[in-house]
Amino acid sequence: MKKKKSALITGVTGQDGAYLAKFLLDKGYAVFGTYRRLSTPNFWRLQYLDIFDRVKLIPADLVDSTSIVEALMISEPDEVYHLAAQSFVGASFEQPVGAGEITGLGVPRMLEAIRSINPRIRFYQASTSELYGNSNTGVQTEETPFRPASPYSAAKLYGYWITRIYREGYGMFACNGILFNHESPLRGLEFVTRKISNAVAKIALGIEKELRLGNMEAQRDWGYAPEYVESMWLMLQQDKPDDYVIATNETHSVAEFARRAFATAGLDWEKYTRVDERFLRPIDVNFLRGDYTKAKEKLGWRPKVTFERLVEIMVKEDLERWGRWQQGKTFPWDAPSYPTEAGILTRALRV
Ligand code: NAP
Ligand code: GDD
Repeated sequence: MKKKKSALITGVTGQDGAYLAKFLLDKGYAVFGTYRRLSTPNFWRLQYLDIFDRVKLIPADLVDSTSIVEALMISEPDEVYHLAAQSFVGASFEQPVGAGEITGLGVPRMLEAIRSINPRIRFYQASTSELYGNSNTGVQTEETPFRPASPYSAAKLYGYWITRIYREGYGMFACNGILFNHESPLRGLEFVTRKISNAVAKIALGIEKELRLGNMEAQRDWGYAPEYVESMWLMLQQDKPDDYVIATNETHSVAEFARRAFATAGLDWEKYTRVDERFLRPIDVNFLRGDYTKAKEKLGWRPKVTFERLVEIMVKEDLERWGRWQQGKTFPWDAPSYPTEAGILTRALRV
């Protein structure tokens, strides 16, 4: 009998890791995922998608090469999806060395381990539209120059190039997915879209009174995460390794997201939203919009869920969750144990 294809996902406990695990399980893969041994494990997304028992979990940390080697030896993968990173841009200004160590150096630790264990393993690197920074060129393609504007994106730039260097230097099948922002009800609460949808639900149900945001003029190309993970898989099924932009080619501001989200719950956003300078970054990326023509032509990938529908999906799901919570129901979910941001001290408070 033909052996099942096997995939190793680093960062399987994150938004993309969980959706990708589900996608690959549905395709018949044996799915292995690395997770960090925290004092309290973070498996809620896998439980939420009802796949916790089907993913084979391996403890590994990107700062520890031995654990990466171990994960590869245990899983013997055909494909590695390297998604683990310290992915919150705001936090990378607070912990720039950590960003370099984990998000940057984590990539050659993966690639070196693969090269020495089995260089035929196909490798996906989670690159990002943050690489463009404020390159101000309008619509961004695979050819647009990068100009990182945060410790996070500087680290990702290193990851992007080291992936290309292993592809060109060692002939490895290594691809960069340059993914623009993608969101879902499984998005972390630090990120602006989920922060908004969660706050809208709480305000609508009388649990919270206001929402405090930073730069509301920033514009992003927001897509729907479950669709984006398919593109990762498609990249690794091609005859040749390459880099691809994955985006919607549509841009909306944070203010627009907030206005729509409040409207979904029948509320006027201006009554509840305030600017709080704690959420401003030392430098911000003002505008992102991706041209996914290459992915459409070569991978047959295109986005389907619109911006309007994305906002609706996220707000409705958070409304439903908080409604169940008010009825005393319990289920795998992050928000009830998330601390109120008023208690979080950041460097911005000192400047
Ligand atoms: P996420 O939800 O923040 O997940 C990040 C994952 O990385 C989590 O599983 C986290 O584990 C793990 N991780 C963090 N530090 C680690 C370490 N030192 N060792 C091992 N694992 C570690 O991020 P995401 O939205 O799914 O994004 C997945 C990847 O795509 C990231 O590399 C991100 O930078 C990149 N990306 C995301 C987007 C987007 O819009 N979502 C766009 C472009 C690129 P814990 O659960 O233990 O924290
Ligand atoms: N998080 C957050 N919180 N962002 C805010 C807030 C706030 O209260 N107020 C305004 N913003 C603005 C940020 O300044 C930024 O311009 C924009 O909203 C989006 O912020 P995030 O949702 O934190 O995402 P990001 O664009 O910085 O980074 C995400 O997308 C990248 C791809 O472009 C992350 O997923 C990265 O890992 C990913 O690479």
